[in-house]
Amino acid sequence: MNWNDISKYYDWEFDLICTNQREDIIIWKTLATEFGGPILEICCGSGRITEELCNNNHKITAIDNSKGMLDKLRAKHLPGLEIINSDMTTFSLNKKFKFVFISYSSFQQLLTLDEQISCLNNIHKHLENEGILAMDINPRICEGEDILPRTQAYTANYPINNSTVTMYTSHRIDMINQIKHWRDEYLEIDENGEEQRTYVEISLKECSLDYMKLLFEKCNLEIINIYGDFNKGKVTENSNNLIYVVRKQ
Ligand SMILES: C[S@@+](CC[C@H](N)C(=O)[O-])C[C@H]1O[C@@H](n2cnc3c(N)ncnc32)[C@H](O)[C@@H]1O
Repeated sequence: MNWNDISKYYDWEFDLICTNQREDIIIWKTLATEFGGPILEICCGSGRITEELCNNNHKITAIDNSKGMLDKLRAKHLPGLEIINSDMTTFSLNKKFKFVFISYSSFQQLLTLDEQISCLNNIHKHLENEGILAMDINPRICEGEDILPRTQAYTANYPINNSTVTMYTSHRIDMINQIKHWRDEYLEIDENGEEQRTYVEISLKECSLDYMKLLFEKCNLEIINIYGDFNKGKVTENSNNLIYVVRKQ
C-alpha cells in the first residue's frame, strides 16, 4: 500500500468525500478523556484525529509507517506531540501507555492473522497494567460487487495548485481471504493542461464480530465494550462501524 503517493490528497479528499467517517472524532475525544494519557495513536496518518486531541491538551505519541503522511502531520506543528515512523506490527518504544487507539479501520490493513496477532501482542507490550486499546472496525468491507471496473468517483478542484482532479476507482474482492483490493487513479490536470497520474492500491481485510472476539481473547485483551457507532450507540445488525474497547489482561 502506497500511502506516500496519496498523502498530498489525503486531507483534501477526506473533507470532500468521507462524510460518514467525520463523526469518528467524537468517540476518540470521548475515549481519550475517559482513559487519559499517556496516549499512543497508531496509524495516525496526516493527523486528522491527532490534531483535535493535541489541541484539547492531550499528549500524544503518534506512529505511522508512511513518511509522506508523517511529513503532512509534522507540518501542522502540534503541541505535545511525538511522531514516530514505524510499523504497527514491529514498533518498539521505551514507554508504556494508558490508552492506545487505531482509527479509521486502519487495523484492517493487516491482511493476515499472523500480522494481526503481531500487532496486538506488540500493543499489549506497550500498554500499562489494565491499559486500554480501542479501534474502529468496518464490518462491511466485502459488501457489494466482487469486481468493480474502473469507475469515475469524482471530479473536483484541488485548491493547492488550482488544478482539477478526477478520481477513478476499481476493486476486486478475494472471497477466500476476505480481502477487498482497491486500485484508485488520480488524474490531475493543471491550469496549463499538464496531466499527472497517481495510482494508489489499498487492501482491507474483513473482520467480523466473532473473529475480533477470538483475536482479542488470543492476545490477552479483554473486551470491555463494543459500540455500534461513534456516539457509543448499540451494536445492531446494520452497524457500519464497530468500536472495540479492550483492556490488557
Ligand atoms: C486511512 S489512513 C488513517 C489516517 C488517520 N488515522 C485518519 O483517521 O485519518 C491509514 C494510515 O495507516 C498507515 N499504515 C498502513 N499500514 C501501516 C502499518 N503497517 N504500520 C503503521 N502505519 C500503517 C498509513 O500510512 C496511513 O497513514
